[in-house]
This record gives sequence, structure tokens and C-alpha cells, in this order.
Amino acid sequence: MNNEQLIASYRDAGQGQVFAFWDSLAPAARNALAVQAREIDLAEVDRLNRTLVLKSAGGAGVDLAGLTPAPCTLLPANGGDAAQWAKARAAGEAALRAGRVAAFTVAGGQGTRLGYDGPKGTFAVTPLKKKPLFQLFAEKIKASGLRHGRPLHWFIMTSHANHEQTESFFTERGFFGLDQGRVHFFRQGRMPAVDFAGKILLESTSSLALSPDGHGGSLRALHRSGALDLMQREGIDTISYFQVDNPIVRCVDPAFIGFHLLAGAEMSSKMVPKAYPEEKVGHFCLQHGKVVVIEYSDMPMAMQRETNPGGALRYSAGSIAIHLIDREFARRMAAGGDGVALPFHRADKKIPTVDAAGRLLKPEQANGVKFEMFVFDALPFARNSVVIETAREDDFSPVKNAEGVDSPKTAREDQLRQFARWLKAAGAVVPVDATGLPHSGIEVSPLFGYDTESFAERWNRLAPRPAIAEGLYLE
Ligand code: UTP
Repeated sequence: MNNEQLIASYRDAGQGQVFAFWDSLAPAARNALAVQAREIDLAEVDRLNRTLVLKSAGGAGVDLAGLTPAPCTLLPANGGDAAQWAKARAAGEAALRAGRVAAFTVAGGQGTRLGYDGPKGTFAVTPLKKKPLFQLFAEKIKASGLRHGRPLHWFIMTSHANHEQTESFFTERGFFGLDQGRVHFFRQGRMPAVDFAGKILLESTSSLALSPDGHGGSLRALHRSGALDLMQREGIDTISYFQVDNPIVRCVDPAFIGFHLLAGAEMSSKMVPKAYPEEKVGHFCLQHGKVVVIEYSDMPMAMQRETNPGGALRYSAGSIAIHLIDREFARRMAAGGDGVALPFHRADKKIPTVDAAGRLLKPEQANGVKFEMFVFDALPFARNSVVIETAREDDFSPVKNAEGVDSPKTAREDQLRQFARWLKAAGAVVPVDATGLPHSGIEVSPLFGYDTESFAERWNRLAPRPAIAEGLYLE
């Protein structure tokens, strides 16, 4: 398609405003705009406009018919079968030894709430050494590889905005001791933002307002980037998915992997029991025999407050964005067709754009719509989906906001509490406050220990053992 045909296709689709400044653009700027314009699927934008933007108000109308709580495998401490957990763990460890699992971090988000200037994975997060999130994950992934005698491949999804910075961060820091050939970066897709009339917005006279297509875009991006083919060549069939903002996540968890593989699941999830009814997390439910996640904003509060006869919350299983994804399932979802597709969601945002004279505008209020896919929307398409319980303090403490809940401070304190728990479980005396927060700033490298058992093994071999005091770093 030459430029004239391209412009005509936009005009025919009612999106001619994209080329409003074309005549005044220099050749390089024209070229840049045309490249972006070719990336857009106009039919998809038209469909999203009709279904999400132009329809009358009244909410997306999420279907709540026939919802019941999703069955979950509980932790042994909460009534789960310890023998089953041991069996799952052994199966997961065998898969790790066989090199069947890859770690996968989605790191393409914009991180607007944190307000940090740079890829979120470069944010310093540990209490003492101020290690960035990427380093922490690298060390956990390395530790798992060492333990199972098989180094892992690590896939990192970036965005167009942070790709180069992310790659150079790893290069400058020697890939944090990982084999560079096993760390793979790829960009996620982008979607154009539209105004409330469905018109694609310009960010400048020669560029579209484009933004990442959501963490659900990871399935398409894994496919398009060739990552799935690479996994296949390497004998990897299980993708351990986690978010870049969660420092205490177990990047690869043998028990979780075991439950997923033993069930022949295509996509599995971890849940934590909700802390209180109003907690803003998605809920694992069952609908038409399939696992679905119903967002807190879509579930009526009365339902969120429902309790079982014993008084416990009925819809208690909260989603913490940790999944296992079968490689061929990701391929099937990415290929789409036959009603298999992730839906897009609408998010109203303040989108910098230009006025009719081409001057930059920074809106004070939402002036348009971004489109995003969510990875958990793939769950109802998956066969045998498994949901297992995890302890919040062992898997989930995200850095979302600059202050308050889910902030660098809460994540730092949750790491400290975790180190204190490991020390205590290994027999050390650690002074802590009523919330379990140790009095001294300490830190444990994942290469020393990354869970209660691995920590105790190393700790018990130490002679002499160090005093638990301010500045203690175990590596
Ligand atoms: P969030 O939903 O927290 O969004 O992403 P965000 O963009 O990082 O932060 P805010 O909302 O602007 O403050 C959860 C996870 O999904 C990834 C993020 O990088 C994070 O790991 N993500 C999100 C992507 O990889 N791509 C996206 O398009 C959106």
C-alpha cells in the first residue's frame, strides 16, 4: 500500500484527521507517520469504537450469570492435602530439572501511579542493597537454575517506550550474572487512543497517540516476536508469568508448576484469600464450567460481601497476577479465530494531543480512550485451569503507588518481614515488632535463600553464624 492508498484507507474509515498535517510535514516526518499508520488495524479500531466507545453509557455490562466461586487448591496450613502438595512440588522440580519452564516478566506498563522516570524494573526496591527489581528477579532465576541444575530462559516483555532503556540496563550491569543468551527482550504491541467520538488521536502532527496494548498483549507478542518458537526449540512448554512490580514473587514455583502440569492445565493461577471484602482485586470464579476473573469494579458489593455459613467470604480468592501458561495455549490464543480472542477493555485517560493548529495540548481531564487486553481474560479459553492458594506474604507485595498502600515502603517492609520469618524458621532469634517487622535493616540475597527451606539449608551450614544486626546482608 503506497502513501496515497494509506491516506485513502484512513479517510474511508472516517479517520482522515490522522493526516491533517500531512501537507506541511517534512519527508522524514511523513515517513514516520506512515509507518505508525500502517501498524494500525483500522477494522479492529472500528469494531472497538462500535462496541466500547460509541455505545450508549451504562457500563460494559459484564455477564455475571451463573457465577460461583472457583474451586481452589488450599495450602496445607489451611486444610489442603500436604501429600498432594509434596507430589506437586516433586513434579514441578522434575520439570525444572528437565528445562521445561521459562520465566516471563511483563514489563511494558507505563507505571504512571508510581511516577518513576524509567522502566519500572530498574526501580530500586530491596531494603539494604537497593537492588532494582530486575536484579532481584535475575538472582531468583539464577538461584532456581542452580538448584535444579538447569539454567532458565527468561523472557521480558517491554514496550516501545522502554525497550532500549531496559536492554541497556541489563547490558551495563552484565545481565546480573545470567547467561546473556538466555535473556530475551521483546516489545509488546501498541494500540491507538481515540477521542470520545472514536477518532484516532495524534500525539504530535506527525505521530499517533499510541500506548501499550495491556498485559494481555503478551500472548500476541510472545507469538509475533518468535519467543514461542524459541521456547519450542529449547524444549520449553511452560511459561511462568509474573509482573515486574512484585519484588517478593516466586518467579518459578515448583509446587505451582507441578499442580499445573499434573492437571494437564493450559493456564493456571495463584490466589490469595482477600484481606477484607472491599479489597480491590479480581475474583476467581467459575462460569459455565470455566475459570474467570471478575474484577472488583464489575462485581456488586453485595456479592463481594457474601459469606459462607461459617462466616468466611464466599468470593474470597483474589487474583495476584501470577500464572502458568502452556506454550501452545499461548500460540492458540495469539492466532485467534473461531471465537478465541482476548477482549479489549476501555480506559478513559488524559491523552496528550494536538489542537487543530497542531499545538500540543495537555488535557486536565480525560479526553479519550485507551484500549487494553488483560491476560486473565484468557482463562476461560483454557483447558483444566487450576487455581492454587499461596500465602500473600510469600508471593505478593506490589509496588504500584509512590506512597501508601502497595508502595516502595510497604514492599520494603514485606521483604524485611519475609527475611525475619526465614531466620526465625531456621532457629535464629530476631527481634520484631507486632507486625513481624524486624528492628534491624537486613537483607537476604536470593542466591543465599529464596524460601524457608532453601534459606534454612544455607543458614544451618554457616559457621560461625552472624549476629542479626543492622546492615546484615546474607549472600
Ligand atoms: P499495571 O496494571 O500495574 O499497570 O500493570 P502499569 O502500566 O504498570 O502501571 P500504572 O497503572 O500506569 O500505574 C501490571 C503489570 O502488567 C504490565 C506492567 O508492566 C506490570 O508488570 N503491563 C501492563 C504490561 O506489560 N503492558 C501493559 O500494557 C500494561
